[in-house]
Amino acid sequence: MTSGLFISFEGGDGAGKTTQLNRLADWIGQETGREVVRTREPGGTDVGQTLRQVLLHGSDLDPRTEALLFAADRAHHVASLIRPALERGAVVLTDRYLDSSVAYQAGGRALPPQEIEHLSLWATERLLPDLTVLLDLDPRHLAARIGDQPDRLERAGGDFHRRTRQAFLDRAAAAPQRWLVVDAAGERDEIAAVVRRRALALLEARA
Ligand code: TYD
Repeated sequence: MTSGLFISFEGGDGAGKTTQLNRLADWIGQETGREVVRTREPGGTDVGQTLRQVLLHGSDLDPRTEALLFAADRAHHVASLIRPALERGAVVLTDRYLDSSVAYQAGGRALPPQEIEHLSLWATERLLPDLTVLLDLDPRHLAARIGDQPDRLERAGGDFHRRTRQAFLDRAAAAPQRWLVVDAAGERDEIAAVVRRRALALLEARA
């Protein structure tokens, strides 16, 4: 059992996850005075930084190798950073987590979704977020939002990103108590307010 609160942000590349994560982190810190840990996948740890380099900027990987490396990053991330923080009572906000693997490696790369989910559940000893915020964005907006040097995943193509988006939406629909789906094309302040409201309800329920 953990006493902290674990929130993940998910969505397509360039959907504004990092901005919204930072806004929520600042707000929780100011309002509650609790320790807030901001992190991300891949690359939330030193080991993860090495894996991130291989995953995003290395040579081509076959889908199973890619899935295993994301899972390895996640296993180390949970064991060395997320779980200890939750056990201290911190609020942990992560930019991407397990659902990205199901969306990208299963939805995008077409590996079996249950196998990908089981791999991550094994890697994390079944640690799931209390809340997952999906910043849903039509991949048509992708080109405008990514930089001029796209990484391996950003280069994967329109069909890949449409499947990824659909996989996120399907997972959210299947477990609405864990998910909050927001339209990433909406106004930033409004998105931040909706996310805050849901997080506040969770914080109050735990108080
Ligand atoms: P990143 O540069 O962190 O960008 P952003 O999260 O803002 O899109 O890129 C991480 C990339 O890795 C992104 O394209 C999604 C992908 N990814 C997976 O394919 N599987 C995973 O399990 C995770 C965590 C990320």
